Formats: sequence, structure tokens, C-alpha cells
Amino acid sequence: MLAIRNLSIAFPGPAGPARVVDDVSVAVGRGESLGIVGESGSGKSMLSLATIGLLPGSARTSGEILLDGKDILRLRERELCSLRGRRIGMIFQEPMTALNPAMTAGQQIAEGIRLHRTVGRSEARAEALRLLDRVRIPDPARRIDSYPHEMSGGQRQRVGIAIALALKPDLLIADEPTTALDVTVQKEILDILDELVADLGLSLILISHDLGVIARSTDRTLVMCRGRAVEEGPTETVLRHPSAQYTRDLIAALPRRARAGLGDEARHAAGGAR
Ligand SMILES: Nc1ncnc2c1ncn2[C@@H]1O[C@H](COP(=O)(O)OP(=O)(O)OP(=O)(O)O)[C@@H](O)[C@H]1O
Ligand SMILES: [Mg+2]
Repeated sequence: MLAIRNLSIAFPGPAGPARVVDDVSVAVGRGESLGIVGESGSGKSMLSLATIGLLPGSARTSGEILLDGKDILRLRERELCSLRGRRIGMIFQEPMTALNPAMTAGQQIAEGIRLHRTVGRSEARAEALRLLDRVRIPDPARRIDSYPHEMSGGQRQRVGIAIALALKPDLLIADEPTTALDVTVQKEILDILDELVADLGLSLILISHDLGVIARSTDRTLVMCRGRAVEEGPTETVLRHPSAQYTRDLIAALPRRARAGLGDEARHAAGGAR
């Protein structure tokens, strides 16, 4: 469904253009989940922003990002607008920044529904309620009229997912969706994402610096280091039998208990690091 081919992204700098994504190729099939992992600054967010056509204006790109054969890098703003949301939904790390503080959860979800489909106000509200139920917000009938500041971080992230789902996208991109949340809520949010992939057949790109998150929720994994793809393959293979030294180092950097969760092979691959 999505094929990124030889993607490079560069920003002009004093010493010439600085490449922040360097010749990356990766594909995501329908109903498939791709994890992207790598240290801070490795280009994960730039890759995902390019995929929804939201790179900063100064960014220069080469290569292709094909969504059903159409190159996103060559679309006009109008075409991009209809693609964002309707085909690709985005979930952000800190839901508060993505939500409008002056609108209730229901209004924000309904706004998305009505932007792309001709449905009446009450129908959009009924759909918003269904979506809030889908992301398992406690007491959705009450929460639909809550403002973001009246909700917990986990509830806000659920609203963020409901907004992304409102437009019925085929691909969800979640950039560190659980980093700001405690582990219990993190698990609940990942459960919801897993369900969406399994039940609705959505494709998912899940960006995380947490290998545990990648291990539990993705089919394939792309490991990035300084803009380059150092390794890509089935998640189990990448985590259990990493071929790149960089991946072994990432695994070795995990606390021992987390490493144990990835399996014996990961521990061996980490070279017996403690
Ligand atoms: N507007 C910009 N102009 C120039 N360079 C930028 C710009 N935005 C980001 N960069 C650089 O691009 C590189 C990749 O950034 P990116 O945000 O993709 O990293 P990341 O892998 O998502 O990191 P993190 O895990 O911290 O979110 C970084 O070195 C960053 O400094
Ligand atoms: Mg990032």
C-alpha cells in the first residue's frame, strides 16, 4: 500500500545541505504494522512527516513515497489535504498539542467527520460517540462534551486516536504515541492500536524508541541510525537475530528485564552485555 523508495530529506545548512534521512526504502502492506526505531535525531519523525506531506518548507527531498502508486512528494497541497485524514491518519506524542483546547472532544471528532463527508450534525455526533466507545473512553456519553483540559493524558490520547479514525484512514502513523503516558495507560493505548490493525485491517507505522513497544505491536521493524536504514525485516527476526551492530547496541542498552522480554536470542545478540 505504501512504498517509500530511496527517500532522502535534507535541510540547507552552513556547510551545505544536511541529510537527515538518507536513501531509505521501506514498504508497508495493507493490514501490516511497521515499527520504526532508532536513537533521537535519527530521522524517524522526518520520515513520517514526509509521508503525510507535512515536512517543513525548507526541507528538500528526493526519491518517492508511493501511496497506491501515487507519489506523495509530488502532490499539490489540495491533493495532500484530501489525502491527510482520509487515507492517512496521524497520532502524535503529546495529544494536548494536537487537540484544540477550545473545543470539546465530540466537536473535534465531528469536525473531522463533516470535513470529509456530507453528514448532518446529529449523525456526526452519533458517529463521534461510537468512535469514543471504540477507543474505550470510560463513560463516552459524558466525555463527548468534555474539553481537553478536563481529561487525563490517556483519555486525550484516546480522543486523538478517535479524531484520526474519524476520517476512516487506511494507514495510521503514530509517532511515539505512548511516550508521555504511564505504563498501564501505554498498554491500553497499544491494545487499541493492535485492535485497529486486526479488526479494521488498518496499516500502522508505529514510531518508538522503546523496543518493547515495537516488539509487541509490529510485524516488521525498520531500524534507523543517523538518517539511514541500518536494518529492516520481520520484527521477531530483527529483535532476536539482529544483523546490524547498531541494533545489537540498542538491545544491549535495554535494562536486563526488558531484554529478557525480547527472548534469549536478543540477549545473545547483545553480546552478553549486562
Ligand atoms: N526544520 C528543521 N531544520 C533543520 N533540521 C531539522 C529540522 N527539523 C529536524 N531537523 C533535524 O533532522 C534530524 C532528524 O530529526 P527527527 O525529528 O526526524 O528525529 P527523530 O528520530 O524523530 O528523533 P526523536 O526520537 O528525538 O523524536 C535531527 O538531526 C534534527 O535536528
Ligand atoms: Mg521524533
